[in-house]
Amino acid sequence: MDRHDRLFPQPLDQRTTRHGLYRCVVTGVAGFIGSRLATRLLHEGWSVVGIDGFTDSYDPAEKRARAASLSRIGGFTMVTGDLAEMALEPCFDGAEVVFHLAGRAGVRASFDIEPRYVHDNVVATRAVLAAARTAGVRRVVYASSSSVYGNGPTPFREDARPEPISPYGRTKLEAERMCLDAADGDLETVALRYFTVYGPGQRPDMGLRIFAEAALGGLPLTLFGDGTQRRDFTYVDDIVAATVSAADADASGLAVNVGGGSSVTLLEVMDLLRRLVARDVRVQMLPVARGDVHATEADVARAVALLHFRPQVAFEAGFRAEVAWVRDRRESAELEEARSA
Ligand SMILES: NC(=O)c1ccc[n+]([C@@H]2O[C@H](COP(=O)([O-])OP(=O)(O)OC[C@H]3O[C@@H](n4cnc5c(N)ncnc54)[C@H](O)[C@@H]3O)[C@@H](O)[C@H]2O)c1
Repeated sequence: MDRHDRLFPQPLDQRTTRHGLYRCVVTGVAGFIGSRLATRLLHEGWSVVGIDGFTDSYDPAEKRARAASLSRIGGFTMVTGDLAEMALEPCFDGAEVVFHLAGRAGVRASFDIEPRYVHDNVVATRAVLAAARTAGVRRVVYASSSSVYGNGPTPFREDARPEPISPYGRTKLEAERMCLDAADGDLETVALRYFTVYGPGQRPDMGLRIFAEAALGGLPLTLFGDGTQRRDFTYVDDIVAATVSAADADASGLAVNVGGGSSVTLLEVMDLLRRLVARDVRVQMLPVARGDVHATEADVARAVALLHFRPQVAFEAGFRAEVAWVRDRRESAELEEARSA
């Protein structure tokens, strides 16, 4: 595909590769964001090879359920394995783009099990880049993180000096640098710095889901810090839209912020949660957790220019959708329990 075709892609039904359909790889496909991305790509007519190692970062049953849903959509092939150890070239053969979302996420755990973070974020990314080059992949889109900025001045701009304050942030930055350094005439790369992604399907170790689960269960919430921390929450479908755009964006060797544009304090999250669950929510405050930054806020000028990024979902609507999803899950689990009792 030449540069003109890349900038002005053909209609989807005419996009073909030597393997037939327009083909891509999604690593971390059984994850929160990877599964949502793959669903969208499949519905847009791509053929998707999904790779996941079903790691123990949280209950693998949740990941298996996402992979099972994807397998019901035509055009999807699931490959199970650890990116750092498997033969990747056969999976990448004929792929136009590799969306590299596999990784070990989460700041707090990274202080306790740093070697796992190095393995899943750094070693795995090195393997992905090497295989992408050998297999002749056109572009690797990498899921980087706002954690690379640490406690830098807000709003975060891509040309600021990254100063991660956790092993998670450091491993994401190292992998991002490998991706950007790999860009040349044969291989294009883009690193998207995602800002706190939320919405239905969110990882069970993430704040909003933990808060929603506790509030719906009538349990007190634990808040690390005084609640004045701000997060630039980004709805998962907005992240997915930016990630799909990155496949064809006129950029390579570049990092791009992807933030939802709603910088909200955790105290504001609590207030909204009380309204959404229509009951009081007790909050227990503990000292700030290690590695937690005080505020994140994305400058998205680059994403707007290169990815035509326009977040569609405001925080209140997005959190309402997540709380509804958590409620549905809880009700299904209760029904299941009652049935098997
Ligand atoms: N969720 C967020 O708010 C957020 C923010 C910034 C960046 N990111 C990045 O986006 C990506 C996806 O995040 P998520 O929230 O969907 O996480 P997730 O944990 O739900 O998904 C990651 C998936 O990668 C798989 N994986 C991990 N290491 C692997 C390996 N070595 N080989 C094969 N598979 C492996 C896991 O089993 C998991 O299914 C991650 O790279 C994360 O660092 C996420």
